[in-house]
Amino acid sequence: MNVPNHVAIILDGNGRWAKSKKMPRTYGHVVGCDNLEKICYMARDLGIKYLTVYAFSTENWKRSRDEIDGLMKLFRRYLKRCIKSSRENEMRVRVIGDTTAFDEDIQESIRVLEDYSKDYDKLHFQIALNYGSRNEIVRAIQKLSKDVKNGKVMEAKITEEVFESYLDTAGIPDPDLLIRTSGEQRLSNYLLWQLAYTEFYFTDVPWPDFNKMELVKAIEQYNSRDRRYGGVKEGTSCSKQD
Ligand code: FPP
Repeated sequence: MNVPNHVAIILDGNGRWAKSKKMPRTYGHVVGCDNLEKICYMARDLGIKYLTVYAFSTENWKRSRDEIDGLMKLFRRYLKRCIKSSRENEMRVRVIGDTTAFDEDIQESIRVLEDYSKDYDKLHFQIALNYGSRNEIVRAIQKLSKDVKNGKVMEAKITEEVFESYLDTAGIPDPDLLIRTSGEQRLSNYLLWQLAYTEFYFTDVPWPDFNKMELVKAIEQYNSRDRRYGGVKEGTSCSKQD
């Protein structure tokens, strides 16, 4: 099996999964959170090098106060527990998105986790928190314009590679495979720049039920596709022939 170098996942369906079990939405997030821990072990076992998950979007703040509070509680717990899985998986963890919107203790846990795991190289795990691709692109443009103004970058020298280096995902190769669980078939403002040449895989399986067998199924489907440009090599962006 040819394992994709970078898999990106839109974690969807926690709420519907919980509803189908006559449980509150927050229960779906708790089980979804446990599954997030498991998927890192699966990814590492399969030899996936980069895994990027969409855990909380810039739009998600519009959910009910109760649900947001429940999610923040889960983030707090998860970010601490992730130290152990980062060690066991030799996994570098990075958070993408505008984290300044979170309470200071959450921001501090993110800093601690990123710093703790910064030298691991077996698996690179990116968690998108308060992430929106348009917001990421606007923030990148703001940083780049500052550097143009202060003379660090010459306007005429701005290339795709230069622009990419201002995104939250700087230095991370583009995803080869995007998976979205739970039946919706849209990108919801996720990695719009980075997914330009990525294969998409949509499944009806809700995130809490997405297990190793489902991940292997997605990879097999990816393998059966004709990737005309020959796949994305680590550390490079694909050659744009299609
Ligand atoms: C989508 O399901 C999921 C989310 C908005 C949150 C994802 C959160 C987790 C997997 C758990 C916590 C994550 C971390 C990083 C600790 P949904 O609520 O949109 O489901 P629905 O579409 O069925 O309503």
